[in-house]
Amino acid sequence: MNGKRAVLAGLMVARLGLVGCSGPGTKEDSMNKSFGTTKDGQAVERFTLKNKNGAEMQVMNFGAIVLSLKVPDRHGQLADVVLGCDQLSDYETKTPYFGAVVGRYGNRIAKGQFTLDGQTYTLATNNGPNALHGGLKGFDKVVWKAKALQTSAEPAVEFTYASKDGEEGYPGKLAVKMVYTLTDKNEFKIQYTATTDKPTVVNITHHSYFNLAGAGHGDILGHEMMINADRFTPVDVTLIPTGELRPVKDTPMDFTKPLAIGARVNQTDEQLKFGGGYDHNWVINQKQAGELTAAVRVAEPKSGRVLEVLTTEPGVQFYCGNFLDGTITGKGGQVYKHRYGFCLEPQHFPDSPNHANFPACVLRPGQTYQQTTIYRFSTVK
Ligand code: BGC
Repeated sequence: MNGKRAVLAGLMVARLGLVGCSGPGTKEDSMNKSFGTTKDGQAVERFTLKNKNGAEMQVMNFGAIVLSLKVPDRHGQLADVVLGCDQLSDYETKTPYFGAVVGRYGNRIAKGQFTLDGQTYTLATNNGPNALHGGLKGFDKVVWKAKALQTSAEPAVEFTYASKDGEEGYPGKLAVKMVYTLTDKNEFKIQYTATTDKPTVVNITHHSYFNLAGAGHGDILGHEMMINADRFTPVDVTLIPTGELRPVKDTPMDFTKPLAIGARVNQTDEQLKFGGGYDHNWVINQKQAGELTAAVRVAEPKSGRVLEVLTTEPGVQFYCGNFLDGTITGKGGQVYKHRYGFCLEPQHFPDSPNHANFPACVLRPGQTYQQTTIYRFSTVK
């Protein structure tokens, strides 16, 4: 890095360090600007994080949403690689979780019901017969407290949210903290913790839609993907796991070697038919539960951009944007058509509360939920 860029990057970090939501000058500072007001009158703020390499990420405290993420291609050209919208109102009403945190329970819970310690809990069914992504007003639709971290050497924002006991039907008051860091290795790192005052279920994930060629620049079918997983969790027609951990070998789910997402997505296959394409959870080959593991690698041949996902979670939902259908106009007026973005959502397996053989997602008082997920960007020649 040249000297001027180093000084500039330093300045960015320093300015970020000055602006806490509660600190003086918050509203005026260019690193922390208003992103409008929600329909119910809550002020929303946008933060800009810039690292030493010039990579840049914008986030807001509504849904802790990643608004943009600009990373270089093999020639050093930056492009925004996440789908999104220009207006807060669009995030409130029409996006399918673009860039958002998803919780308290990401993914599906069958028929919106689970039993914990002998008590049955009922959730809203917002996805056919099932509950999806934390309910009618999940973590993606609430305003989080946010502050730029003053202590971090790399630009970082801390988000906190206190989810009430009974919110969206889940038991226990859940205190959630997430730190988003844009590291100097061009990584978007998320560190999650949560504690509860009653036994509850927790499965928090991140829902950015990536397109490494640049958001809005065509579909993602040419991206080459590798998933470090020998098994996946097959689903029924409503996308609820059957409970089986099925080997990927000899199925279109086998991404143990790099292959274009589009190579088999339209094959005749019951699982692909149920998902309308890939919309499944892979069981990550983890040496030890909770160990940070390289889970996925995706390369986009034209730009040379590479995304690696590392996580402490046991599973990853790979969703290839099957429900995008051109009805959403995103950033800069670009229309997001079928499969214009893909999600990689590190998580516990879908419907875990109803499957005793899946890794447990129960959190009890005195325990701390922890997750680290890293979206690492680089390039190949
Ligand atoms: C789910 C999809 C769903 C999408 C947007 C993904 O996590 O697996 O089925 O359509 O989120 O809601």
